[in-house]
Amino acid sequence: MNQTKYFIIDFDSTFTQVEALDVLAEISLKDNENQANAIEEIKSITDQGMDGGMSFRESLKKRLDIVNANQKDLPELVDRLSKLVSPSFQRNTAFIDKYRDQIYIVSNGFKDFIVPIVSKFGIKEENVFANEFIYNEAGAIIGFDEENMLSANNGKPNQIASLNLKGEVFVLGDGYTDYEIKKAGLAHKFYAFTENVRREKILNEADHEAPSLDEFLFSQKLERAHSYPKNRIKALILENIHEGAIQRLKNEGYQVEIYPAGMTEDELAKAIKDVSVLGIRSKTQVTKKVLDNAKRLLSVGAFCIGTNQIDLNAALKKGVAVFNAPFSNTRSVVELALAEIIMLMRNLPDKMSEMHKGKWNKSANGSFEVRGKTLGIIGYGKIGSQLSILAESIGINVQYYDLEEKLALGNATACPSMEHLLKSSDIVSVHVDGREENKLIIGPSEFELMKHGVVFVNLSRGHVVDVDALAQYIESGKIHGASVDVFPEEPLSNDHPFQSPLMGMKNTILTPHVGGSTLEAQENIADFVPSKIIEYINTGSTTNSVNFPNITLPTLSQAHRFIHIHKNEPGILAEINNILAKHGINIGGQYLKTNDIIGYVITDIDKNYQEEVIKDLKLVQGTLRFRVLY
Ligand SMILES: NC(=O)c1ccc[n+]([C@@H]2O[C@H](COP(=O)([O-])OP(=O)(O)OC[C@H]3O[C@@H](n4cnc5c(N)ncnc54)[C@H](O)[C@@H]3O)[C@@H](O)[C@H]2O)c1
Repeated sequence: MNQTKYFIIDFDSTFTQVEALDVLAEISLKDNENQANAIEEIKSITDQGMDGGMSFRESLKKRLDIVNANQKDLPELVDRLSKLVSPSFQRNTAFIDKYRDQIYIVSNGFKDFIVPIVSKFGIKEENVFANEFIYNEAGAIIGFDEENMLSANNGKPNQIASLNLKGEVFVLGDGYTDYEIKKAGLAHKFYAFTENVRREKILNEADHEAPSLDEFLFSQKLERAHSYPKNRIKALILENIHEGAIQRLKNEGYQVEIYPAGMTEDELAKAIKDVSVLGIRSKTQVTKKVLDNAKRLLSVGAFCIGTNQIDLNAALKKGVAVFNAPFSNTRSVVELALAEIIMLMRNLPDKMSEMHKGKWNKSANGSFEVRGKTLGIIGYGKIGSQLSILAESIGINVQYYDLEEKLALGNATACPSMEHLLKSSDIVSVHVDGREENKLIIGPSEFELMKHGVVFVNLSRGHVVDVDALAQYIESGKIHGASVDVFPEEPLSNDHPFQSPLMGMKNTILTPHVGGSTLEAQENIADFVPSKIIEYINTGSTTNSVNFPNITLPTLSQAHRFIHIHKNEPGILAEINNILAKHGINIGGQYLKTNDIIGYVITDIDKNYQEEVIKDLKLVQGTLRFRVLY
């Protein structure tokens, strides 16, 4: 027979994110110049009490003396604490609703502020056990009711013993006094609650760690807001990815492990086993071997533009969705291209180096405005088309050539061929993608077609341009100026030397592949990639995934969502729907997208269903991955 379950929950730093007396001191001492020191002292006394280093009653007396508060400070305290309820308690109201008779708040804090807060969540006043303030006539808090069991040492165990609970008792709390309940043999399990604070000493004593209420509810199979606790999602972040990304993943509740460098295939194959989210940049190869070792991997985030370092098909076959940051540095590249075009038209690279050598060469020779000139953009993708807009805004005429039909922005015009563009542009800027077929698409015959005195810019990929030919055409004077940011062979790191036939050429800007390297771009990447991964994990949306069929799903409300990833073979969708029908499941919405390799089916269903359906769906032949979301 199932025993009744009772839940003993601590208040400070568990139900709420903070210690209430710290907040009360912020309010009561706001005009006191020693406020900061006083709060520090209170915190240190709290910690000593929590870790068992000081008797509880002693710590309470000391703290109340310092706080020196008044009854009139309490409404503000309640208001502030109400906004600081721990997120996992805020989202798990269904648990509180269902078990309100069996939930007890047992705290060494004070009923005066606890009751108004927890009662908003439906917790009964008679189930709150805590201390009570004593006030003088002027409302000043002058002490506490010393008759109250919770003001004495060992107060919590004594209080629980007096309740005489018949059933299974669970304690959730962050402090030593919570552990004392278990120590006294009055609870079956003590969960150290670490969503807000982590006390190693308490963790050593605990049966389990609960990084959130979700973890506790999941481990006890109780009513909960989410199908899976986010703290069980481990993110491994390599290659020094921007702090913003790490914070974003931590705020979502994931465990985040950071490794500053890249990893070799063997290292990663070992480290990946229990990882759900992998974050990399360009140095780490995510090979089939790595993916075969990944048992829980849901998603890989490439915190960069390129994804050649990832075996995308192998990831797809494992049901792992890959995301990158395709637009995050577009603007940075465009700004640099535009700046360089202006600099080259004014012959600035030469003028600048002469000045650094002490040569004053004031002359208008070889210097031109960009206004009214024709810019030919090869590759009218994200960068090319944005350059088109900015260039036009300063009076440049824009024409472009792209392999695909592209919408001309502003007054730009499409050229019928690259040859046409090369022959009629004063400036040629290359923004094609790095596909293999684009190797050396600009070589001697293309330079030959260009106008005499052309300005040439390449910030796309190094293998696209024949740099030996470029050097010859600069040398000959046909090319007035050139700017190159990407090279056929680039040094592996800042410690390796750079070599190129373009070194030392006149009116030539050489930059170390920094077109997209701005702090803003780094921040954009740090924001964009985690947001896509989190959206995929929470809703199943694959918008912008580089390998999955792209599908944008409605947010999930009032339903459970089944996510089924399978090999793209005939008959699987029918089989899924047969299983749902057999279990009498009402489908609220169904979404399907396929590519050559996988089928991605998302089904929203009523909350009421038998768990057997999940087993049956997982057994469908060809299933690669199955998840339930709610
Ligand atoms: N220098 C840097 O730091 C830096 C930063 C970001 C991007 N990039 C590079 O810039 C380039 C453009 O990036 P994007 O984000 O605009 O890419 P994109 O994929 O949005 O655009 C590329 C465009 O080029 C077109 N194209 C491909 N081959 C072509 C060809 N042979 N002739 C004409 N058109 C062709 C495509 O149809 C597409 O419209 C890429 O090579 C990218 O790797 C460099």
